[in-house]
Amino acid sequence: MQNKEVYDELVSKFEKLYGEKPQVVAYAPGRIEVLGNHTDYNEGYVFSAAIDKGTFFAVSPTADASCELTAGDFMETARFTIDTVAPAKEMTWQNYVTGTFNWLFDGKPAEAKHGWKAMFLGNIPLGAGLSSAALEMCTVLALCKLYGIEKDKTTLAKIGQKAEHTFAGCPCGLLDQASSLYGKEGALVKSDFRYCKFENVNLGPAVAFMMVKSNAKHALVDGAYASRRQACEDAAKYFAGVLRKPVTHLRDVTMAEWVLYRGGLSETTAKRAVHPIGEDERVLQGAELLEKGDLKAFGALMYDSHESSRNWFENSCEELDAIVDAAKAIPEVYGARLSGGGFGGSCCLLVEPAAADKIAAKITKEYKAKFGDEPAVSLIKPSEGAHLV
Ligand code: GLA
Repeated sequence: MQNKEVYDELVSKFEKLYGEKPQVVAYAPGRIEVLGNHTDYNEGYVFSAAIDKGTFFAVSPTADASCELTAGDFMETARFTIDTVAPAKEMTWQNYVTGTFNWLFDGKPAEAKHGWKAMFLGNIPLGAGLSSAALEMCTVLALCKLYGIEKDKTTLAKIGQKAEHTFAGCPCGLLDQASSLYGKEGALVKSDFRYCKFENVNLGPAVAFMMVKSNAKHALVDGAYASRRQACEDAAKYFAGVLRKPVTHLRDVTMAEWVLYRGGLSETTAKRAVHPIGEDERVLQGAELLEKGDLKAFGALMYDSHESSRNWFENSCEELDAIVDAAKAIPEVYGARLSGGGFGGSCCLLVEPAAADKIAAKITKEYKAKFGDEPAVSLIKPSEGAHLV
């Protein structure tokens, strides 16, 4: 479904259910992570983009403290009041919204002047691993407008991240939320998470991205993501002890230092640590290559990134590896890698746009031969970030 159709469906369903037009509607896109994997919470660098699919959130105020929240696709409604906002154990989809509402009011949503009724609907493929931040960001934009609250984008991103941490149980970084807010048409977002500095880097028309969604399970709340983050933090503490310079995060450690001092870490922790360290170097190198317009070399860094995930961070899986391996054999693909948390979800491919159909057909064929089912392939247009509609 195109965005316009999603919007129309949402507004008509909202009217039917609540008997009035929504007062505010906001939209937030999903994201693809292009280079820089698991670097955000290590205060490192990432190249990402907002995609041309996302989630809409429609809301109107209520006259009292009551709140109603409806998931527009399966028309399930959660009911609560502004003073009973808490993480839900059932209908857990509501946690991204209620958590965002909670932290928009600094943990005191009961201080909101009134409640609200809302509905959301999106067109990001489920399980692609990029929809929860989009939901948080359209929620926060719509609620800001509804309550007349003004906050800068980075603060809004952090509100969504806090919702993930405390209501959804995923200790994620800030990448997904920031990419959704800072996206720009035809451009990448280059993020520096130490200083929360976000800039757009224009891409020429000679390239496009493809997203290939594996059918492997992608659940970041089941502990694998958290254990990777923990290993990175343990490694940073170790390096802070052995290096004669300030180290707070793996951002502060170079590859040469890792090689010299890795012996003091357990084998697993050393393997985990080298991934974000290498990724930071690749993003900085990638920025120079993009400036020169050297897409081939940039794509090679994407392949290196995937190898690092596969061998060191171990956040890939058979299905993602198969997609990247298939991509490597196609000359019109510049580079490919897993995108986001890993353990399933999607791969991001940098491709020659004219060859998109051929690439999609080849990868689908090989994936099907191996796993029996077809991956969802879509051509991605880097797009405008979240906004009110
Ligand atoms: C998930 C998280 C992000 C980031 C990526 C990996 O998408 O939500 O914060 O850590 O994984 O780069």
